[in-house]
Amino acid sequence: MPFRERYTGLINRYRDHLPVSDDTRIISLGEGNTPLIRLKNIPQMLGKDVDIYVKYEGLNPTGSFKDRGMTMAVTKAVEEGSNAIICASTGNTSAAAAAYAARAGITAFVLIPEGKIAMGKLAQAMMYGAVTIQIRGNFDEGMELVKQVAEQAPVTIVNSVNPYRLQGQKTAAFEIVEELGRAPDYHCLPVGNAGNITAHWIGYCEYSAQKGTRVTESCAFCDGNCRYAGGPVIGSRPVMIGYQAAGSAPFVRGEAVKNPDTVATAIRIGNPQSWDRAWKVKEESGGWFDELSDADILAAQKLLAQREGIFCEPASAASIGGVMRDVQSGRIPEGSTIVCTLTGNGLKDPDTAIKQCGDSRMVTIDANLASVKDAILGIL
Ligand code: F0G
Repeated sequence: MPFRERYTGLINRYRDHLPVSDDTRIISLGEGNTPLIRLKNIPQMLGKDVDIYVKYEGLNPTGSFKDRGMTMAVTKAVEEGSNAIICASTGNTSAAAAAYAARAGITAFVLIPEGKIAMGKLAQAMMYGAVTIQIRGNFDEGMELVKQVAEQAPVTIVNSVNPYRLQGQKTAAFEIVEELGRAPDYHCLPVGNAGNITAHWIGYCEYSAQKGTRVTESCAFCDGNCRYAGGPVIGSRPVMIGYQAAGSAPFVRGEAVKNPDTVATAIRIGNPQSWDRAWKVKEESGGWFDELSDADILAAQKLLAQREGIFCEPASAASIGGVMRDVQSGRIPEGSTIVCTLTGNGLKDPDTAIKQCGDSRMVTIDANLASVKDAILGIL
């Protein structure tokens, strides 16, 4: 078999579609190129003729889709001479910022809501060496503080208000189109700050448009003459669906939510930064927003793990739970090809996983053959 070219991350892979030059020093950990897995058992369970794929973003270097945005944001920050980055985060952005800052040799400051981020994410920020600032407040308050402090201190914001973040994240859509040979009919994502749904839409629009046209109102870079447009399948774009946790569902309420709460801490956000853009995504794509209870989110997480062997974090499972409901009701019609983004790895939040598996098949026995045999024969 001939040797394959070494994969060196999404900026190198998609440099013609990204704001980099030949001289740009690229800060990469080999992010992107994640598996698109076709579900087998869940569609069968639903009894509907649909094709559901999951884009397993939890297999990125720090375990979430944030690495796609962070390779771009940190690459550009370094190019522009910055020595420090800052973000507010529900956990995954802080993990990615910390890792890419370490790689670049610059300082990361991360603001996280005290007691409301999953253990794996906290471990990452600390281990990668970020200055970890816990605030007695929520993500939305952290976000406001970050925006204010960045005006007074020499730090670059790497939240998705930084336009380079969305540029990196749009590449997930490129990968999906290349692998399916076209865009899916529906693309479903969990929505928090609403950067990722916007980034995916930008990616789909660029890949389906002729060079030099205005591809979408959602893109900060689009001045009516898109430099990055031009992909393999012209005219193919999905309907975009955003699922939120019921306790943190500003897009479903139509207004900001004051005290957001959900077990899916990654999307515990009441005042999304990409508010206007995400509404444009909904309009342009003919999509919708909907909400799921925490119980439905956790049930979907468990089902995906136990029926398909895929472990995602609670927030990510919102897209699976939402799709199951919308396929069942017929809102997503039979014959559809659907992609769900699994935004983060299940290992990020071991506490929630263990807590909801109280009814699991774990037994504790003495270390002898008879006990092991009893344990096995009791189940078979
Ligand atoms: N899923 C996961 C696992 C996330 O970490 C996030 C966002 C989302 C979904 C929602 O994406 O914000 O682009 O709509 N996490 C951010 C963070 C807020 O700080 O890690 P979004």
